[in-house]
Amino acid sequence: MAEQAKTGTGQQTLWTTFAEVFNHSEFVARHVGIDAQAQQAMLAAVGADSMADFIAQTVPEAVRLNRALDLPLSVPEHEALAKLRALADKIKVNKSYIGLGYYPTRLPAVIKRNVLENPGWYTAYTPYQAEIAQGRLEALLNFQQMCIDLTGLDLAGASLLDEATAAAEAMAMAKRLSKSKSNQFFVDARIFPQTLDVIRTRAKYFGWDVVVGDFDTAANGEFFGAIFQYVGRDGDVVDLTDIITQVKAKGSLAIVAADVMSLVLLKSPAEMGADVALGNTQRFGVPMGFGGPHAAYFAFKDAAKRSAPGRIIGVSIDANGKPALRMALQTREQHIRREKANSNICTSQVLLANLAGMYAVYHGAIGVRRIATRIHALATAFAQVLQNAGLNVVHQTFFDTVLVHTDGQTEQIYQNALNVGFNLRKVDDSHIAVAFSEISDAHDFAILTQLFGAAADLPDALTMSLPDTLLRNDAILSHPVFNSHHTEHQMLRYLKQLEDKDLAMNRSMISLGSCTMKLNATSEMLPITWHEFANVHPFAPRDQVGGYLEMIAGLETQLKAITGFDAISMQPNSGASGEYAGLLAIRRYHESLGQANRNICLIPRSAHGTNPATAQMMGMQVVVVATDEQGNVDIADLTAKAEQHSDNLGALMITYPSTHGVFEAGIRDICALIHQHGGQVYMDGANMNAQVAMMQPAEVGADVLHMNLHKTFCIPHGGGGPGMGPIGLKAHLAPFIPNHSVAPVPEAQAGMTAVSAAPFGSASILPISWMYITMMGRDGLCRATEAALLNANYVASQLAAHYPILYTGNNNRVAHECIIDIRPLKAETGITEVDIAKRLMDYGFHAPTMSFPVAGTLMIEPTESEDKAELDRFIAALVQIKREAERVAGGEWPADDNPLVNAPHTAEVIAGDWQHAYSRDEAAYPLPFVRAHKFWPSVSRVDDVYGDKNLVCSCPDVASYENGEIAE
Ligand SMILES: Cc1ncc(COP(=O)(O)O)c(C=O)c1O
Repeated sequence: MAEQAKTGTGQQTLWTTFAEVFNHSEFVARHVGIDAQAQQAMLAAVGADSMADFIAQTVPEAVRLNRALDLPLSVPEHEALAKLRALADKIKVNKSYIGLGYYPTRLPAVIKRNVLENPGWYTAYTPYQAEIAQGRLEALLNFQQMCIDLTGLDLAGASLLDEATAAAEAMAMAKRLSKSKSNQFFVDARIFPQTLDVIRTRAKYFGWDVVVGDFDTAANGEFFGAIFQYVGRDGDVVDLTDIITQVKAKGSLAIVAADVMSLVLLKSPAEMGADVALGNTQRFGVPMGFGGPHAAYFAFKDAAKRSAPGRIIGVSIDANGKPALRMALQTREQHIRREKANSNICTSQVLLANLAGMYAVYHGAIGVRRIATRIHALATAFAQVLQNAGLNVVHQTFFDTVLVHTDGQTEQIYQNALNVGFNLRKVDDSHIAVAFSEISDAHDFAILTQLFGAAADLPDALTMSLPDTLLRNDAILSHPVFNSHHTEHQMLRYLKQLEDKDLAMNRSMISLGSCTMKLNATSEMLPITWHEFANVHPFAPRDQVGGYLEMIAGLETQLKAITGFDAISMQPNSGASGEYAGLLAIRRYHESLGQANRNICLIPRSAHGTNPATAQMMGMQVVVVATDEQGNVDIADLTAKAEQHSDNLGALMITYPSTHGVFEAGIRDICALIHQHGGQVYMDGANMNAQVAMMQPAEVGADVLHMNLHKTFCIPHGGGGPGMGPIGLKAHLAPFIPNHSVAPVPEAQAGMTAVSAAPFGSASILPISWMYITMMGRDGLCRATEAALLNANYVASQLAAHYPILYTGNNNRVAHECIIDIRPLKAETGITEVDIAKRLMDYGFHAPTMSFPVAGTLMIEPTESEDKAELDRFIAALVQIKREAERVAGGEWPADDNPLVNAPHTAEVIAGDWQHAYSRDEAAYPLPFVRAHKFWPSVSRVDDVYGDKNLVCSCPDVASYENGEIAE
């Protein structure tokens, strides 16, 4: 067909080429908010003649790529989905009886549709702004309550990344809290291998020894802590009470990694004396997803609350004395203890914790008990039928996993199982483990028993395979929330009620500097719930997961093309975890050269708290480098410190563009300087959105970089996770990427221990980034970055007359974000950045990043996905807020009674008794556009101090909400 295909003579010309009618880059225009007309107006507003002119002014010539990325052109949504479908078709989803911490489960459809597949939940940001996050805060409090109930411990956090890292976090916490001076940590030999793998990595660089032994030998030595697996890896359940008593008598902390489903029936870790309990909550409705994402739980005693890693949701009160939820001990979390840290966790697994919590809400105590009992009954019946057939079942006390002695038939049974679509676990030549799950049924049972040559029928009567002494007698999930929403109608309404309390990106822009809250397109999200991506065990045989591996390899190729690196590791589950994997590669590299002494890590003062925390966790000594008045690294100070520490220089950690939102022209020189002194450059890629197609981190000199796929590459924030933080590495660091002890990673070297529980981290959300890059292509990605840079500069240009822009780079330009300085306004009017953040809620907006990297400022990152109209509304809101502040300064409104200090205003407050110096209308509808789409915060300003002083991290009883008790 001719490319030039004009319509007939005399008719209006509808098209000139077939390329136009097919419009292969249609998605690009759906993702990027501004069209040609808006772009023209915005370029004029920022004083640039063209996009090329603007980019030349903004991205320093010294770093610019000046060539197209080596990627295909953009692909339409339906075609990209078809390509991914073809890969999914190459995944064989067998019935999984593998166990080892991952089990098939049923996510109730009402939760799947209304939470997992609902942008109201998945596009929300981390709940720092509590007043517009009460819905997901309540969901997280439910999760915490569920974990407290199941473990019997006093407190629980709002999720960690996975069971293995939670175990490593528990080890670090034990070191902080233990009375023992020992440097040894005891690990029960029955622990999951992936957990041991991650513990070994973590312990090595803290300088601790890991001793693995039979669980009952944990008191035979001096240990600062001991971890036990409750439901051992091969299925046996042992009462840990005695050994925990002995271990604690010696001053060490007792940690139990406990299977969440088994705890429905089993005596709780607290009853056995444990100080900490942790585990994966995956089997509470969260698909296995080839390894993740899933929420790990972490429960602990009250005494440990200030040492616990990760976020904790607490109950506080609002300005009107009403109960309100918030992230407790938030200041601590924001600073992540910097160089004093033992943990660097930041992004966690909020969306998945919410799924698991809602699973418990929907099923309630009776429902989960039925599920747990069914699992146990099937496992028991299986053991009994096999024993009746003369087979040897190794453990008599188990919950869900039966270890069978195969009499040399392992390979035969294993292969026969594969042939009928079942994955079992080959333990060794003479043992197979069979792990039952929520989806096991009589049909599966018959097939399984026949595979072992036993009778197919379920027995009529059963005796539990758990003695009474191991069963729990206390009530679980008795809070009303777990007993009120068991019909689908009620559940649907509860989920909607919570969703409506939250401001997510399906309402308005979330301009979180350093967090890149861009569009999470529906086509990107669809594949994550496809059966093939959702329901595969991470340790499934590799010949079943070809399509998965191909998709992952494809994404690696895309990321290599974008960053210029030679290798990618997909294992890290968050940006901070990527930092850890990156510094680990650097440490291993230095060790390979006989330079283990290189332990100095230079970090600019402006760095994110996770940077020094990670360096400290890698056993490195943090040396802080000054920044100059423009927010750039102070080259003189850097040079002096690199020289001073030349013999021991390990790495520089640097964020690019800087956390001040500026492209530092000197980055090449900075990298060269570090290399000259024998160090490696770790680039923090949180700001990668400014780099894509403009420059390449590898090309300017970085050795390793983490990419927050949950920022630049469209994985939604999920209200605080999941994330993915793969790292890109130059060839010399590639041999040092983390491997995996159960399912080796293709390019990784033997002997390299892991950083995450699963070989490819949270594999099931990788299709999101794959889809994004595929649909955008090299042209679209370039367009996105141009628009992101223009949007930020447009916002800066429009706000500059009202708020000082703190830092600018080349030609007075910012990069993809800008920092507005609130300190002068505060000095003049008393109005603070917090007042502005809260007042923005009355205008229907989420606040930008507050007081990072500079206290008293707001950092705005509009991203490329916002259109000009939304940007203009946001700008108008900030300008109007400035005017309101001026009315306070002018004495028109009292300093202690104005719409700013009283913000946000709830509907209840507006409808109530009104005695303020400003009108209700001024409070609720400060600009005309607000009227059309009013968002009502559900609580007034939350009292942070009260919440931290009166730490309550479990669900308050309903009566206390009703009678106002909590407010006292
Ligand atoms: C500059 C920077 N580095 C690192 C991180 C840590 O990433 P994550 O939250 O995914 O662990 C962040 C998170 O916001 C960040 O902004």
